Amino acid sequence: MRADGALPRHVAIIMDGNGRWAQGRMLPRPLGHRSGMKAVREVVEGAIEVGVEVLSLFAFSSENWTRPSDEVSALMHLLEEYIAKEASELAGQGVRVHVLGELERLTPPAARAVAHVQEVTAQGTKLRLNLFISYGSRAEIVQATRALVADAIAGKIDPAQIDDAAIASRLLTAGCPDPDLLIRTSGEQRISNFLLWQVAYTELHISPVLWPDFTRADLYTAILDFQSRDRRFGRVSV
Ligand code: FPP
Repeated sequence: MRADGALPRHVAIIMDGNGRWAQGRMLPRPLGHRSGMKAVREVVEGAIEVGVEVLSLFAFSSENWTRPSDEVSALMHLLEEYIAKEASELAGQGVRVHVLGELERLTPPAARAVAHVQEVTAQGTKLRLNLFISYGSRAEIVQATRALVADAIAGKIDPAQIDDAAIASRLLTAGCPDPDLLIRTSGEQRISNFLLWQVAYTELHISPVLWPDFTRADLYTAILDFQSRDRRFGRVSV
């Protein structure tokens, strides 16, 4: 990482490869997710250390509900465990946690854990940590569209006035800058229904590392790669 280079304000991560990490060691897949918690701690600390403002982690997609029920319940328990163990630590580090997704689908204990961590970290100002759980970007855009149409029918907005900002303000990420850098681990080169609207001009970094092995050094490698990019936002360089 270069001290004189531009830092990404918002880093988003698709944490992939937990299952392969476990299978490669002849372990059950849920143990891969458990090992992935260490990497979550690493990137939170790394992001604070370098001064990233927003860190978005894709922890559980809408599609993940269709995985075998023992894996789904292992992931839900891990989430509760992560929150129970880390909530006060995160608050002490100055992290503010927002959990984004279709939270009405969570089990009651997971929903209580989510409410708890958001409450105890509400004063954090160093890093905004967005945990995407039960999240799908198309569903988010559908919701935003419904809200806009309802406002238009109610006469609160003129359809001709609907613009990018009107849509962005109805997404779960309202108020957050768009990601500058999106990292996907385990070598896969897909967006997988994550922040489709928000990544319009985001730089992509594909890391070969499986998520449980991802360290803050790998985060810094991604940021260094970001610093070498020429971001043009559709314009020409001068
Ligand atoms: C993708 O690996 C990862 C997930 C579906 C879950 C990510 C969850 C964690 C890292 C656990 C804890 C996180 C928090 C925030 C508490 P995969 O199972 O799709 O891996 P594969 O592609 O190798 O099968």
